[in-house]
Amino acid sequence: MHHDPRPGDVFVTGTDTEIGKTLIACALLHAAARQGWRAAGIKITAAGADYIGGRWQNEDVEQLRHASSATLPDAASCPYILPQAVAPHIAAAAIGVTLDMETIHRAYQIATAHADAVVVEGVGGFRVPLDDHQDTADLAQRLRLPVILVVGMRLGCISHALLTAEAIAARGLRLAGWVANHVDPDMQHSEANVQTLAHRLPAPLIGNVPYMTQPDPETVAQHLRVSTLFPTRNLASP
Ligand SMILES: Nc1ncnc2c1ncn2[C@@H]1O[C@H](COP(=O)(O)OP(=O)(O)OP(=O)(O)O)[C@@H](O)[C@H]1O
Ligand SMILES: [Mg+2]
Repeated sequence: MHHDPRPGDVFVTGTDTEIGKTLIACALLHAAARQGWRAAGIKITAAGADYIGGRWQNEDVEQLRHASSATLPDAASCPYILPQAVAPHIAAAAIGVTLDMETIHRAYQIATAHADAVVVEGVGGFRVPLDDHQDTADLAQRLRLPVILVVGMRLGCISHALLTAEAIAARGLRLAGWVANHVDPDMQHSEANVQTLAHRLPAPLIGNVPYMTQPDPETVAQHLRVSTLFPTRNLASP
């Protein structure tokens, strides 16, 4: 059955691992809350966790939880927290687990019952495998969510960004916007790179986020234009 995605829900992908998906997802959560949305972030699968206080904890999941204005059950905020910081299907196999798309889909559905806007963070780049056959692009397609592409501004990012945009379009998904995130303070001609991408990517640039020595999501939120993603809601309305 075809249905339109719920307004306010987005899938955050990136040009690579470690390029700012979590930071931008958290900033989107702050921005959504500022617009009057009860927002919560989820991580589809987390690889790399520490056993603290009797449970496995992952940095991305904790950051998303901290930035959320709505509270989620643990199983919704991340259905799989895997100890090893390696490719997710390999981290899962290492503990005898097969990642199940249905379980991840259910986590998203539970999240929608607790929050008006659900920001879903992918893992690594867009074609990271989840099981023997499917990857995070297939999951985004299954969730039918508009995609926000975080481009980690560094040498090589133009091709990575354009390839990702192609993969998003190939799945019939909508690229709702992209963010230029300046992760490399030494990148030369970084603004010319942003302009090149602005010209070629088929979606609006919703933020040009500078390099920050102490990046924090609330400050980053001030660099994002989210009025289309999260139209102002009256906080008093149900
Ligand atoms: N604009 C920025 N300025 C400075 N540092 C940044 C910026 N954006 C991200 N970083 C830093 O880069 C690192 C990676 O960011 P982040 O964890 O958000 O990446 P990610 O894409 O979510 O990674 P993963 O693939 O592991 O989920 C973090 O230490 C973060 O603080
Ligand atoms: Mg992350």
